[in-house]
Amino acid sequence: MGKHAVTVTINGQSTDVAVDSRELLIHTLRDRLRLTGAHIGCETSHCGACTVDLDGASVKSCTVLTAQCQGADIRTVEGLAGADGLHPLQEAFFQEHGLQCGFCTPGMLMRAYRFLQENPSPTAEEIRHGMAGNLCRCTGYQNIINAVQAASGKMNQPEAESAE
Ligand code: FES
Ligand code: FES
Repeated sequence: MGKHAVTVTINGQSTDVAVDSRELLIHTLRDRLRLTGAHIGCETSHCGACTVDLDGASVKSCTVLTAQCQGADIRTVEGLAGADGLHPLQEAFFQEHGLQCGFCTPGMLMRAYRFLQENPSPTAEEIRHGMAGNLCRCTGYQNIINAVQAASGKMNQPEAESAE
């Protein structure tokens, strides 16, 4: 079977790949492009460790075929920090101890990144609901909720807008 030529923008950079019909986006990112921040936890759409941002939505990249991504704009955790330092979410996960082993963290960050654009000033309950597709085996979640809430507060300050 022939390969599919796919052009995607990843973290602001146009990238060409040639993939088989059945190649999953998570494998293209990790194995072809060496963007190993997105993790493989289950490969069955349950854990969220593979979450990336695709055309303005959170997707579990183990459920997306790369061949479907022609022209897509993708952001991975590698593209989250700005030139002037960590993204407020990364800073907040650090400050609030929102991670332990860190395996779930790239997916958590990328889901939180999109969630805070959907709901810039969420309650703790809304964060729990918005992040429900991302599982963590270590933290008990409370510090993750705290981190997302802390980041939302920081991002809503006028001077933080340039960090987006
Ligand atoms: Fe994709 Fe678990 S690896 S949801
Ligand atoms: Fe270990 Fe979340 S910090 S799985």
